[in-house]
Amino acid sequence: MRIALVSDGGIGCGALPALIAALRRRGWSVIPVLLPVSAPGLGAALLSDLCGSAAVSGGALPAVDVTVVAPCEASLLAALQAPSGSGPGWRGPVVVVPIAAAPVTTAFQRAGWRLAPPGEPLLGGGVTGLLMASPEVVCQMVAACVAPQDLAGTRVLVTAGPTCEDLDPVRFLSNRSSGLMGLALALAAWRRGGRVTLVHGPLQVDIPRLPELQAVPVRSAREMQAAVLANADAQHVAILCAAVADFMPAHCAERKIKKGDGAGYALELVRTPDILATLGALPRRPFLVGFAAETHDLHAHALEKRQRKNCDLLCANDVTEPGSGFGVATNRITLFARDGSVTALPLLSKADAAERVLDRVVAALPVARLSP
Ligand code: C5P
Repeated sequence: MRIALVSDGGIGCGALPALIAALRRRGWSVIPVLLPVSAPGLGAALLSDLCGSAAVSGGALPAVDVTVVAPCEASLLAALQAPSGSGPGWRGPVVVVPIAAAPVTTAFQRAGWRLAPPGEPLLGGGVTGLLMASPEVVCQMVAACVAPQDLAGTRVLVTAGPTCEDLDPVRFLSNRSSGLMGLALALAAWRRGGRVTLVHGPLQVDIPRLPELQAVPVRSAREMQAAVLANADAQHVAILCAAVADFMPAHCAERKIKKGDGAGYALELVRTPDILATLGALPRRPFLVGFAAETHDLHAHALEKRQRKNCDLLCANDVTEPGSGFGVATNRITLFARDGSVTALPLLSKADAAERVLDRVVAALPVARLSP
């Protein structure tokens, strides 16, 4: 994919090297474009070096798939939002990455234009203002520009990560889930136009702050169930990817449990609520996707689990297989559908695996919406 990076100048340029590196890490080529009206920023030579591509000066843009305006200072943002006709005649999708929280007028809502949310406030050292959105946010917005919008108008709930079941104020039971697969699913659904609610336990990864992606942090299985049920009604699709703890302590001690006299300590555990099975038993439920991490007899367990939890699609993976376990960037998933079909996906990046799962969801959705 070819990206034109239109850089307005100013203090926001400090964030450009990290953004350019992130765009290029995805294998996209980046062509820097300098506007004649830009404030002084990174010079053409430095931008060319960072992008590995000669800078283009002037108003005319090279032929690209997506144009990114970053950083976009307040004055350029205002000019871009001027009543239609006076904006630049750039063709194709445009992602504008402001460094100012400017009011967005309807004039900005041109087809194919996306406005990144402002980033973190810059505070300290006498510097005030806003950073531009993180490189990850911009990359997601760029990828969304070329993604099929086949989940537009669809609300998708995803659960991700582990749950933590507290024993006392300092100790808890949990598992090795990183949340990578659930986050990959949430982001893929978002890129395809879905309005996503991501209910997640404590994650080892950051969630990009994207518009229409609502993150709902929870800690325990019971909290996750409450958050899922509170949101379930409005959803068209629910993908339950979280590694929910199967057991929780019967009691959580208010004060730290002491080791005592050196004797053993017996922990009384009780079952956590099964969130997927609860949704599966609802008379009006969203299209339901479950996940199953298995260590043996994957086929038999997956078939039984899909039926017992009444989900429309069950994605099973063998966590003992190299590249398919916890915390890694890849996964090998086998899909077990309600119609009895079994589809073994190859070893894929979690982002690609998420797309393949969503392909199945999209293909089944009109039928599922009509089913009881
Ligand atoms: O039974 P098992 O834990 O293997 O089932 C996995 C699937 O069920 C996953 O989709 C997981 O998110 C969901 N699950 C749940 N609540 C539980 C346990 C699992 O929603 N208490």
